[in-house]
Amino acid sequence: MQKLRIVRNALQDVADDGERVGSQPALDPFPEGWYFVADRRSITKQRLIQKQWLGQDIIAWCDDEGAICVARSVCPHLGSSLSPEAGACVRDGLLVCPFHGFAYNAEGACVATPYAEPPKSARLSVFETREIRGLVFAWWGIEGRPPQWGLPEEPADEGDWSGMEMRTLRFPGHPQETAENSVDLAHLRYVHGYDSVGADGSVTVEGAHLVSRFDFRRRCGIIGFTSILEVSATTHVYGLGYSYVDIRENSIGIDSRMWVLATPVDGTFIDLVLVGQVRNIRTPKRFAFGLALLPVSLRTGLMSKMYMFMQERDVLQDVKIWERKSYRTHPRLCRSDGAIGKYRRYCRQFYPNTPYADRDHSRKPTRTHRSSAAD
Ligand code: FES
Ligand SMILES: [Fe+2]
Repeated sequence: MQKLRIVRNALQDVADDGERVGSQPALDPFPEGWYFVADRRSITKQRLIQKQWLGQDIIAWCDDEGAICVARSVCPHLGSSLSPEAGACVRDGLLVCPFHGFAYNAEGACVATPYAEPPKSARLSVFETREIRGLVFAWWGIEGRPPQWGLPEEPADEGDWSGMEMRTLRFPGHPQETAENSVDLAHLRYVHGYDSVGADGSVTVEGAHLVSRFDFRRRCGIIGFTSILEVSATTHVYGLGYSYVDIRENSIGIDSRMWVLATPVDGTFIDLVLVGQVRNIRTPKRFAFGLALLPVSLRTGLMSKMYMFMQERDVLQDVKIWERKSYRTHPRLCRSDGAIGKYRRYCRQFYPNTPYADRDHSRKPTRTHRSSAAD
């Protein structure tokens, strides 16, 4: 996988304005949902990866049939770490613990040991997984709850799209705060300098699926060419770890898509993974960036890189805000702040055990006890 970019190394204290409990953040750092683990290519290339994910160490690996297993990095036998650093490895399609050599299949069952019958009770603590376009997600359930809702089907038309560009930014933040940007249209003008920003219909919510549509114009300059892009975006939010944006640039005729995947690392930092693709641009509607002069594959590849560059630059503008902001349980909104209240109500389903201050003003939010997949 591409290099991780750590945007800020030290967490700066935010002003305590009475919306925090002691040093605890007002939002539980690990809301329920589907969160990105890694892309399949990285897992198969590295064979076994370990990472910190929602406050715990997990591993991901792939067996010989292509089945991916995501599990806690703890051997059920005597508790060894299952990380490559500890000496765990994938051998003959099985995960082998470095301590006594117990071997596990991709379903988490112990199927062999070097010196005895494998105990039936020895099972890895595995997470439910879903894969979309080679992006592997795992379900994080409060107190080990099974998935309460699903991720969408894969988007179609793979053959007509560029390869996937991927970037990862790490910074102090929270996935609810990053996903809130999809309904916070006012910041598009103020932070990113977009023009003519307008909602296209109202934000809709159906269970864990929130949809926000909006249009804007933005200036774009690259390698000496400058153009105005007229953009229509539809954001599909499925929980706080998965946002998918369909983006149509109307003046040149460029279709693109972007996944914005926020994953809590340790209760302070999050990884924000951006994944972008552009559809082949066969006949640009107008001459821009010298596109018409380039062969189709070259112009699509160029636009894909340029779009990712713009997205990353935009997100870095947001990061400056996110990493320093406080969560406002009772934001003082103005009439034009649109759907932020609706978004906050939508978010409550991802904290099933949290008493909310905005449900009951006399109660402060507390951190809930969490666990992952059943041990
Ligand atoms: S601790 Fe893993 S095999 Fe003993
Ligand atoms: Fe933004």
